[in-house]
Amino acid sequence: MDALEAIAKRKSVRDYKKDQISDEAVAAIIAAGQNAPSAGPYHITVVQNRELLQYISNTALEAMKNSGNEFLMSRAALPGYDPLYGAPTLFLLSAPQGPYSLATASCAATCMIIAATALGLGSCYLITPTLAFKADKGLAARAGIPEGYEIMCAVVVGYKAGEKFAVEKVKENTVNYVK
Ligand SMILES: Cc1cc2nc3c(=O)[nH]c(=O)nc-3n(C[C@H](O)[C@H](O)[C@H](O)COP(=O)(O)O)c2cc1C
Repeated sequence: MDALEAIAKRKSVRDYKKDQISDEAVAAIIAAGQNAPSAGPYHITVVQNRELLQYISNTALEAMKNSGNEFLMSRAALPGYDPLYGAPTLFLLSAPQGPYSLATASCAATCMIIAATALGLGSCYLITPTLAFKADKGLAARAGIPEGYEIMCAVVVGYKAGEKFAVEKVKENTVNYVK
């Protein structure tokens, strides 16, 4: 699959099979992230430990419920909602606080989800795991996040199971040309 096809095919997947992705796929996705544009240091953590995944999911869900944000609270109230969607692999992107840290981590995350699509895998860019790390200050050490780094965003990857929790995307009137 070429780059344009992978970009066109990529969709947020919110329902995963339990099957783990291969170490080769993990390495290729990390390489894609590391080839992204960057403006400062960042770190990628791969979480495949089921217990830790469940804990991050539970903590993010509670934080969404208590966030005061209408959208997040309505999502968290959906029956069976799991912020990590049962994905077997979670990539956490962390960086020191700085003006370009979120942009840098997000550039890497975008390349990672496109690489995952090219490999025939499902993926989703996530911001909600950051809530779990804000709610539980001990979680960063448990996940091996480097000292002084904060979670900026995350990506889940796995084999797509079904269609759940889709969000409407508006593409009309989002482009203008000045020639
Ligand atoms: C900044 C940002 C944060 C996002 N956070 C989440 C998230 O926490 N959970 C989620 O399911 N999707 C999240 N998304 C994915 C969007 O919901 C999704 O990309 C959008 O609805 C368009 O759908 P598509 O990715 O299938 O094209 C996020 C996207 C962005 C850009």
